[in-house]
Amino acid sequence: MDNQSGKIQRAIICLLLLVGGATGLKDVKIKVPDMVRSGDDALLSCNYDLESASLYAIKWYRGDVEFYRYLPKEAPSHTVFPVQGIKVDISKSDNHDVTLVNVSRELTGRYKCEVSADAPSFHTAIKEAPMEVVDVPETNPTIVAERQRLPAGETLRANCTSGPSRPAPVIKWTLNGNHTRADVVIQFCPRLTD
Ligand SMILES: *[C@@H]1O[C@H](CO)[C@@H](O)[C@H](O)[C@H]1NC(C)=O
Ligand SMILES: *[C@@H]1O[C@H](CO)[C@@H](O)[C@H](O)[C@H]1NC(C)=O
Ligand SMILES: *[C@@H]1O[C@H](CO)[C@@H](O)[C@H](O)[C@H]1NC(C)=O
Repeated sequence: MDNQSGKIQRAIICLLLLVGGATGLKDVKIKVPDMVRSGDDALLSCNYDLESASLYAIKWYRGDVEFYRYLPKEAPSHTVFPVQGIKVDISKSDNHDVTLVNVSRELTGRYKCEVSADAPSFHTAIKEAPMEVVDVPETNPTIVAERQRLPAGETLRANCTSGPSRPAPVIKWTLNGNHTRADVVIQFCPRLTD
């Protein structure tokens, strides 16, 4: 490449950057709960700064599958695509938010929001975040101890059983509210069953 065409290329790149800078879409941020209980509703939000441009579309995906689209200038502006397990409450969904009702474990995954500015730029940005749907135990844990009384220095064996949950529960033992006693050694025998 001779020196002259090098200069021309630089001029073209600068011009593109100027045009790119004027599209007016920045600071796109997605907010998705890291964890939500199955059966609850989940509010997913997408925030952005369009500067002086107006919004053309906001699209929501789970993985690569689109489930909700909002186009403010169309009537109706909401479109919900049928996706297994996803129920959108459109009364609580708009140009920033989408509300999923009664979520189930299968909705664990990565969510994306895609924001597009209106003509002439149609500048588009995508952000993504994970959400995990958990099943919490519906009953309190129960403790069964081998013996109710035991001489000093002996070992007490006890089981703590939690109700079903996914992912598996974290179980912590305390003695009179204390889980840092130096005079007691706690040995865990983890036992997870399906
Ligand atoms: C929530 O979804 C479950 C299936 O995932 C269904 O059995 C239950 O009836 C639904 N509850 C409501 C309030 O829609
Ligand atoms: C704890 O559970 C194990 C496995 O189910 C069982 O063998 C043991 O007897 C239980 N111990 C007590 C104190 O219930
Ligand atoms: C727990 O026990 C340790 C010593 O075994 C003691 O230093 C600490 O103050 C106790 N904490 C509580 C909350 O009782």
